[in-house]
Amino acid sequence: MEEFKGKLAVITGAASGIGKALARRCVAEGMNVAIADLYLKGLSELAAELESQGASVLALEVDVSDAASVQALADRSVEALGPVSLLFNNAGILRVGQAWTHTAQQWQAMLSVNVMGVVNGINAFVPGMMAAGVPAHIVNTGSVGSLVAAPNMAQYTACKMAVRGITESLAYDLAAAGADIDVSLLCPGPVSTPIGDSLLGLEAGSEESEANVKMMEELPDFITSDECARRVFAAIRARKFWIFTHPFTGYYKRATAAIVDGDNPVYTEVEFDPVTH
Ligand SMILES: NC(=O)c1ccc[n+]([C@@H]2O[C@H](COP(=O)([O-])OP(=O)(O)OC[C@H]3O[C@@H](n4cnc5c(N)ncnc54)[C@H](O)[C@@H]3O)[C@@H](O)[C@H]2O)c1
Repeated sequence: MEEFKGKLAVITGAASGIGKALARRCVAEGMNVAIADLYLKGLSELAAELESQGASVLALEVDVSDAASVQALADRSVEALGPVSLLFNNAGILRVGQAWTHTAQQWQAMLSVNVMGVVNGINAFVPGMMAAGVPAHIVNTGSVGSLVAAPNMAQYTACKMAVRGITESLAYDLAAAGADIDVSLLCPGPVSTPIGDSLLGLEAGSEESEANVKMMEELPDFITSDECARRVFAAIRARKFWIFTHPFTGYYKRATAAIVDGDNPVYTEVEFDPVTH
């Protein structure tokens, strides 16, 4: 897809962070948007902002962990705004802690948002997108954690590695079915967003939360959500499957070589490649 004007984008987790920036970017490209989230204050503020820029906007309360809720998003989006050209399965949550400290219930809760949220998006939207036959692109949000495990991140790593596998299989299946639908795995590096708010005891949309996001912008390697969205759109235009907002080629080559050599894993923090743009 190179031309976005007048087409429909659907974004889950659109009320904050990367999802919000993606929605804004879609509208800047002349698209109409269906935006979905559980955070209703952020969602309605964004809807008003995007409508004031001339976009048709459908804003829906959706829990991505609930298949029926995501199916309702798919049905209502198409009914109101036509066939889907861009789908961002973006909603996600972060929890940290040593691998043995999460209860089975906490595991279920995390998997149901970060993994089943993506699966529910695929199941609800792909059949209709294939039937509509218009060129389209699906972006599932993984993470650097889709490729690299880290201490205290067993839950998040498990989810994001699963999303990588699901997304790669989806791309193979769509290609084999002859669908005109590109697929990408978005693997963001550090992006200054409120994703850590609940871990820090901060309220969504509060001054403290906003100040924390601003503070992150000053940290090494962090980029803003807007810059992340800009990089995502460049990759969509270039039809890239792997979207690394922060490439880490040198690190990953060493890490995979160690596996091939049969070395036991030793964690070192990911080093991102020097910025070349
Ligand atoms: N920020 C980063 O550095 C970073 C890095 C790698 C990956 N990611 C991924 O990017 C995606 C977006 O994260 P973000 O940083 O913008 O976080 P964020 O917290 O700013 O935004 C996530 C949004 O998802 C929504 N959400 C959470 N659970 C939901 C549910 N069950 N149903 C519907 N909406 C739900 C939240 O309300 C929130 O508005 C996530 O998948 C995250 O794992 C972020």
